[in-house]
Amino acid sequence: MNQSNKKNLEFIKNAGVNYFLQDSPRNWFESEQNRSHRSLKDEDKDDGKLLKIQQIIEKIKHFDTPLKDSAKNLVVYDGSLNAKVMFIGEAPGRDEDAEGLPFVGRAGQLLNKMLAAINLKREEVYITNVVNWRPKDNRTPTDDEILQFLPFLQEQIDVINPDFIFLLGGVAAKAILSTPIALGKLRGSWHEYQSLQLKKTIYTIASYHPAFLLRSPQYKKASWEDLKMLQKKLNEKN
Ligand code: URA
Repeated sequence: MNQSNKKNLEFIKNAGVNYFLQDSPRNWFESEQNRSHRSLKDEDKDDGKLLKIQQIIEKIKHFDTPLKDSAKNLVVYDGSLNAKVMFIGEAPGRDEDAEGLPFVGRAGQLLNKMLAAINLKREEVYITNVVNWRPKDNRTPTDDEILQFLPFLQEQIDVINPDFIFLLGGVAAKAILSTPIALGKLRGSWHEYQSLQLKKTIYTIASYHPAFLLRSPQYKKASWEDLKMLQKKLNEKN
């Protein structure tokens, strides 16, 4: 285990995130009571991913947080459960809260363009956020909120089992890379995310959030370089 992952684990354990404290995984999937009945897409049928994601969604729904008081809709994911790349943002904004889907507002439209620029379609990647309820007035999630939602995010990573993770903005970078280092220093190189459950390393890039790029277009060039790094790795894999 490398040093940053050791620190990551210590940080998470000290924060009391139970998901990591089990010797063997908890069976989250026993109860079928709350299962929702979204219809199965053909590509999702094979290995039970949809059911597992639905179970995670139920857990998030029932997780007690004051964020629920002001939010309208839970926002968990969009895209494919068989995605090779997972994109992780910060938290839903107003449009996402209204629609119940991540990245559907202006930042989402830019994200779609960023994906298209490296020949990816929104439908073939998995898009989610660190926090799944909209913080009032779009404030940045607190460290406590990030930690409270982190186990749900880690479980999604374990179910989706992506080859690559692309972190959109500082909150996602902090959550997944567990570091206070600024995005400007983190971007431009590959990082390793260790999934204890999958027992594998997932290569991860941290780059600028599309909402930030809308406000500060001078960073688009750097963002494009990060996207090209991902595209290169994807091409190598194919
Ligand atoms: N910003 C995010 O971080 N996530 C969204 O879903 C929308 C905007």
